[in-house]
Amino acid sequence: MSNISVLAQNLKSSEIIKIAFEVNELKRKGEDIANLTIGDFDSNIYPIPDELKQGIIDAYNANLTNYPTADGVLSLRESISTFLKEKLDLTYGLDEILISGGSRPLIYATYLTIVDKGDKVIYPAPSWNNNHYCDMLGVEGIAVQTTAENNFMPTAADLKPFVKDAVLLALCSPLNPTGTMFSKNDLEEICDLVIEENKSRKEGQKPLYILYDQIYAQLTFGEHVHVDPVSLRPELKDYVIFIDGASKCFAATGVRVGWSFGPANIIERMKGIVGHMGAWAPKPEQVATSVFLKDLTSVDTYLDHFKDRIQKSLDTLYKGFNDLKAEGFAVDAIEPMGAIYLTVRINCIGKSTEEGEILDDSHKLNSYLIKEAKVALVPFSAFGTTEDEGWFRASVGASSFDDINAMIPRLKSALTKLK
Ligand SMILES: Cc1ncc(COP(=O)(O)O)c(C=O)c1O
Repeated sequence: MSNISVLAQNLKSSEIIKIAFEVNELKRKGEDIANLTIGDFDSNIYPIPDELKQGIIDAYNANLTNYPTADGVLSLRESISTFLKEKLDLTYGLDEILISGGSRPLIYATYLTIVDKGDKVIYPAPSWNNNHYCDMLGVEGIAVQTTAENNFMPTAADLKPFVKDAVLLALCSPLNPTGTMFSKNDLEEICDLVIEENKSRKEGQKPLYILYDQIYAQLTFGEHVHVDPVSLRPELKDYVIFIDGASKCFAATGVRVGWSFGPANIIERMKGIVGHMGAWAPKPEQVATSVFLKDLTSVDTYLDHFKDRIQKSLDTLYKGFNDLKAEGFAVDAIEPMGAIYLTVRINCIGKSTEEGEILDDSHKLNSYLIKEAKVALVPFSAFGTTEDEGWFRASVGASSFDDINAMIPRLKSALTKLK
C-alpha cells in the first residue's frame, strides 16, 4: 500500500516539463537552442508595462502588504468592471468578479464549484490542462478530438454527441495550444447547442455550464476578432464563467493576477474555495493592476507594441514553414490568429535518421529536432490529441525574433537528412 494519496499518485507530470529537461541538458552543454516549448515570456525580451512595475513598487512602499479582501481588492474589481465594458462591451458588477493568484486557481475553483464526482466534463483536444483538473477531481473528462480542417477549434457538431448530462463545457479562445480562434458563427452554434441542451433538462437536474477561458483575448492579430458566448447569446449569462487575467496580455506571468467573472451565485462559491486555498493575488500586485487598468492609454500603447512584436515572430515562423512547404518539405502551419502560439506540422513520423533510427512517433521526432535542428516544440499529444499526425505547438514568447529567424535554416537541414 502506498503512503501517498491516490490523487497524488495519479497526477500526471507535465509533458512540457519533460521536454524542458531535455532542452536544459543540451543548454548546460553549451548548445544554443530555440526553445519554443513554454507558454511563457522571456521577461528581458518582453518586460511587463513600466507603469505596472512602478505601481507594484509604489504599493510595497506604501506598506499595502496585509491580506487582500477575499474576492479581491475593491479598486481592482472596479477597474476590471470598467475594463470589460470598455474593451469587450461586457457588463459585470462588483459581486460578479473574483480575483486570484493568476487564473489557474479560478479554473480549478470553477471545476470545484460545478462538478461532482461522477459528473461529466467536456473539453476539446488539443486544449490546455483540462485533463489535469478532471484527474484532480476524479471526474470523467471527455476530450473531444478536433481537426486541422477547423483550425483545431471545436464545432457544435463535434460536441453534440457528448453534451447529454455533461455539467461543464470548457472552452478557450484564442486557444492554447493552437493560436487559433472561434469564428462568430461556430461559437454561436455551440451556444445554441448549450441553450437547447439546458432547455431539455428536467427540474432539479444540473445545467450545462460553460467555462470560457479568454486569457489571450487581448492578443489577437489582423482582422481576427475575439468573440464570447455572453455577447453572442445574452441569455447564457447565468451559465458562463469567464477566466481572464493579466498573465498573458501584459507578459505578467510571474505577477500572478487573474480574474474570473460570471453569475454572482457561482462567483460567491468560488470565492470560498479560493479563500480556503489562500490562492489570492498579492495585495500590492492587485492594487498596481487596478491603477494600470484604469489608464487605458498606457494599456493600449503597451498592447500595440507587445502585439506587434509577438505577431512579427509568429508571422516569421509561419512564413518559414510555408517556404519549406513550397520547397517540397512535408511541413505545414495554420495562420496565427491570437495568443503566442503557432500550430505547425512536421509530417515526418515513420522516417529514418542518418543513423537509422525510425522516428515512429512525435516524441522521437521532437527529440530528433531538439538535437539536430536545435529547436524544441511540444507535440499535440501533450494537449490530449490522440491521432499522432505530427502536429506541434510552437510558442514564441520565450525566444527573440532573431533566434526564431535563425532556426528555420537549421530545421531545413535537419529535415533534409531524414530518409
Ligand atoms: C489558456 C490558459 N488559461 C490559463 C492559463 C494560466 O494562467 P495563469 O498564469 O494566470 O495562471 C494559461 C497558462 O498557460 C493558459 O494558457
